Amino acid sequence: MSIVDQGGFERDRGEFARGARALVVLPDQGDARRDADARMDETAGLAAAIGLVVVDKVALRVRQPRAATLIGSGQADELAVRCRQHDAQLVVFDASLSAIQQRNLETKLEAKVIDRTGLILEIFGERAATAEGRLQVELAHLDYQAGRLVRSWTHLERQRGGFGFLGGPGETQIEADRRLIRDRMARLRRELDQVSRTRGLHRDRRQRAPWPVIALVGYTNAGKSTLFNRLTGADVMAENLLFATLDPTLRQLSLPGLDKAILSDTVGFVSDLPTQLVAAFKATLEEVVSADLLIHVRDVAHPDTEAQRADVEAVLDEIGVSSETARIEAWNKLDLVDAERRQALLADAEKRPDVVVLSALSGEGVEELTRRVATDLTASHRRYTIAVESSDGAAAAWLHSHGEVLGREEGESETSYDVRLSPADYERFSRRSA
Ligand code: GTP
Repeated sequence: MSIVDQGGFERDRGEFARGARALVVLPDQGDARRDADARMDETAGLAAAIGLVVVDKVALRVRQPRAATLIGSGQADELAVRCRQHDAQLVVFDASLSAIQQRNLETKLEAKVIDRTGLILEIFGERAATAEGRLQVELAHLDYQAGRLVRSWTHLERQRGGFGFLGGPGETQIEADRRLIRDRMARLRRELDQVSRTRGLHRDRRQRAPWPVIALVGYTNAGKSTLFNRLTGADVMAENLLFATLDPTLRQLSLPGLDKAILSDTVGFVSDLPTQLVAAFKATLEEVVSADLLIHVRDVAHPDTEAQRADVEAVLDEIGVSSETARIEAWNKLDLVDAERRQALLADAEKRPDVVVLSALSGEGVEELTRRVATDLTASHRRYTIAVESSDGAAAAWLHSHGEVLGREEGESETSYDVRLSPADYERFSRRSA
C-alpha cells in the first residue's frame, strides 16, 4: 500500500498494530552502560504501550553490523524460524534501521519490521491528545517517512487484511509521495504556528501573573504522574504504561510561604528519542524551557538509573533548557530498594542540597520535597515574561537595571522581555505599571 491512495493522502497510523503478534529483538551492539535485560523489558513495554502482543524476546549479539540487514544472515534465518513458530506478524528491532535494512529484513522474515524510532513515533501518535500534540507527531512522522520512501512502512496493509509484504510503489509513485509529504508538512507547519501562537498568548498571560512554574521532568515511567497527583491531589492517569502523559498537564499548587505555584507534568523522556520528535515537541516543552524550577524525577530502583539521568539531561539540553535553571532531583521509588541501597541513597542525598529521596507511592519524603521547592522558589530570583510598550523607554531601562534580561521579542506596539527578577522587584514593577 502506498501512502497515496486514490489521489488522497492517507494516514492510518495508530490503530494499525493493536493486537498484532510481535517478536522483540534486541541487537546487542555492546553498550556497556545499560543493562541488557532492563533494555529488553523497556522495549517490550514500549511495544505493549501500543497494544502489541509480545510473543517472544530475542537478544542477538551483533559484532559486525551488516549494511544490508544489520544482523548476520544466520541470525536472520533463526529469527525467520521463530517468527513462523510464533506466528508473529511484526518484528520490533530495538535499534535504528536504515530503510534498506528494514526492507531486506521484512523480505527475509516475512513479517513487518519496525525500528525503535518508528515504535516511539507510533506511541506518541496514539497518545497525543491535543490538537497541537497531534500536529507535532504527524509532522515528526512525515519527516521520518520522507527520508525512508523505499516503500511505505508505517502502514501495515490493514486494508488488505494482512501484514504480508506486498511490494512497494514504483519510482514515479515515490516521487509523487515525496511531493505530497512535502506539501502536507508545509501545511502542518502553518497550522502548528497558528496553534502555538495562540497558546503562546495564554502562557504569556499566565506568566505575567506572579506565580512560579515548576516542571516535572524525567525518564518514562519514573513516576512523574504519581508525584504530580500526590503534590496536587489530582487524578492524572498514572499507570504502568509508558508515555501515559504526552501533553503537558498543569495544576495549581499551594506551597508554604507562596501564594500559588503552577506544576506541570510533561512527557516522559526515553533514550534514543527520535530527533524529529524532540524538535516537534520543543513547543510543547516550552513549559519546561521557561520553568522557574525543574523537578527531575528519577527511578532509583531501576538498574539503568544513571544512564536514564544522562538521557534526560541530554534532552533538556537539546530543547534549550539553560543550565542555570534551578533543579531538584527527586530520587523516587525508595520503597522498592533494599535496606542497604536505601542507606547508601540517603547518605548520598545528605551531601547534595539538590536531592530529595522519596516514594511518590507511599508518600515518604514528599513533604520534604515540598519544603525544598518552596525554599528554592522564595529564595531565588525568577523568570518573567513582561510586555512593555515599545515607546516606554523608562520601563525598559528599569528592567535592565533591576533584572537580568535573557531575551526580548519585538511586537507591533509592545516589546516582550524574558527577564529574571527578584519577586520583590517584580511586585514593584507590576505596581508601577498598574
Ligand atoms: P510516563 O507517563 O511514561 O512519563 O510515566 P511517569 O513518569 O508519569 O510514571 P507514572 O507516575 O505513570 O508511574 C509509572 C509506574 O511507576 C506506575 O505503575 C506507578 O504506580 C509506579 N510508581 C510511581 N512512583 C512509585 C513509587 O514511589 N514506588 C513504587 N513502588 N512505584 C511507583
